[in-house]
Amino acid sequence: MTKLPFVIVLVISILTFLKADELGELKRSSMTLYFQDYFGGNNATMKPVTFSGDAWSFKQFGTIFCTDDPITVTMDQGSAQVGRAQGIYVTSALDGSNTHVLISVVFTNDEFGGSTLEVQGTSKQFERVREVAVVGGTGRFRLARGYVTFETVHIDLSLSYSIIEGNFTIWHY
Ligand SMILES: *[C@@H]1O[C@H](CO)[C@@H](O)[C@H](O)[C@H]1NC(C)=O
Ligand SMILES: *[C@@H]1O[C@H](CO)[C@@H](O)[C@H](O)[C@H]1NC(C)=O
Repeated sequence: MTKLPFVIVLVISILTFLKADELGELKRSSMTLYFQDYFGGNNATMKPVTFSGDAWSFKQFGTIFCTDDPITVTMDQGSAQVGRAQGIYVTSALDGSNTHVLISVVFTNDEFGGSTLEVQGTSKQFERVREVAVVGGTGRFRLARGYVTFETVHIDLSLSYSIIEGNFTIWHY
């Protein structure tokens, strides 16, 4: 009977070892993706859903935006779709300078379909390059960690349309 705890510990150790082994090698991946963002009009892919103060604005503290941007492989919006950027942005600095990003990159292409990357953190929304953390992932990107830099590479105010380039650098199993 006194040997039982030892056996249990041994079994748990073996299970833990097998589990760690299943994850495979830690890999580094980088990819450049393009978010096709319509921030107004009938077919908006980003919309304010609630705000504090008199009106919504990117600069108005407390404005919350919901987004579902198509993500493509090149800047061309007709290029192959990789997935969608789904989630919310909250203007989270009192002076409006920062937005809090909470989005999932939901892959739908052949290579990564069914997998996700989770992007979360504050973004200096009016700077040329914004860096946000990649805090997790699922499927092909389990236990992902890393960062993404966003840069608005095209903007057309008359169409309420912009293209945001996202350079992802991640470590994952
Ligand atoms: C919005 O989508 C509809 C249906 O796909 C299309 O007919 C219309 O031209 C689009 N409007 C704009 C402003 O892009
Ligand atoms: C993002 O990657 C593209 C393509 O490699 C590169 O041209 C661009 O300079 C990068 N942007 C940033 C902010 O590093």
